[in-house]
Amino acid sequence: MKRVIDLRSDTMTKPSPGMRQAIAEAEVGDDVWGEDPTVNKLEAYAAEMLAKPAALFVPSGTMANQIAVRSQTNPGDEIIIETDAHIVRFESGAVSALSGIQPCMLSAPKGILSATQVDEAIRPPDIHNPPTTLICLENTHNRAGGTVYPLETISEIRDVATSRNIGMHLDGARLFNAVCATGVAPDVYASRFETVSFCLSKGLGAPVGSLVVSSEARVARMRRIRKMYGGGMRQAGILAAAGLYALEHNILKLHDDHKHAKLLAQGLAKIPGIAIDEDTVETNIVIFDVSGIRQSPDDLLETLKNEGVLMSRFTPTTFRAVTHLDISHQDISDAMDVISNTIAH
Ligand SMILES: Cc1ncc(COP(=O)(O)O)c(C=O)c1O
Repeated sequence: MKRVIDLRSDTMTKPSPGMRQAIAEAEVGDDVWGEDPTVNKLEAYAAEMLAKPAALFVPSGTMANQIAVRSQTNPGDEIIIETDAHIVRFESGAVSALSGIQPCMLSAPKGILSATQVDEAIRPPDIHNPPTTLICLENTHNRAGGTVYPLETISEIRDVATSRNIGMHLDGARLFNAVCATGVAPDVYASRFETVSFCLSKGLGAPVGSLVVSSEARVARMRRIRKMYGGGMRQAGILAAAGLYALEHNILKLHDDHKHAKLLAQGLAKIPGIAIDEDTVETNIVIFDVSGIRQSPDDLLETLKNEGVLMSRFTPTTFRAVTHLDISHQDISDAMDVISNTIAH
């Protein structure tokens, strides 16, 4: 059978044999009762990595974000967030439905808000205004193409937040991609935020799970919200074992994903009809325009799929390819051969 090169998302990774072994050997207990030793170990490990007092293991990145937002807002509040952020674009309207807040959405180049932009969007105290209580940033920014928030910009936004007494949440679904791309330590990023979420099930290769880190008191509050949202899990140690394995073995492998993404971008840039700005490829996401190709984007995507290369449609004329743990150097060169041959015919 022909090998399928699945570049649709870094959520496509499958647990490796070593990870499956760790899952099989996990010690478990009832985590809703706080008795799962492997979950407790993972939460302690995550808290220490991000230098926060406590952490909470949750089933998904969406739940991590939504619990964090809920824990820092009251219904009728406003949160400041970039227009294309996952929290408002791809979480099914949850901030309004579950937290009763309204988002103040600001668009920004590469998904990176500036401190001035944030400052100007904060509502002055007035009975007519919703109180601005939270600023949410996303690092790396998925929809912008895996772009990295400069630490300096985050720090400037933090200064604004502190001076206006507003909390900050980081959607760090791909925080470790930012860590690998910049060399900035995870705890340095985390120190700028009250809450930080990150995913185990994307480039880190675990099948399920995210963590959200914060103070002891806020994690206790988030634990209660997790139960309310139906995210209390029982013998979740089998999932936590995969998460621990991912943190212990797979973080540095993200460097390979970034190299592969660059390689793919360089190859694509050489194909007539494809437009790509290689400088936008900062981590593991490659977005490119196919409007210069004779075939329609739908036909092209279908032909590539039939040839074993899977990518996703990003906009009517652009595709998205994401590199990950299950994509090798050889896969990238095979994918490039398929793409060039397909387009040449
Ligand atoms: C930036 C970002 N945040 C949050 C999520 C949500 O993660 P999950 O699919 O585990 O709910 C994703 C998923 O792709 C994401 O890219």
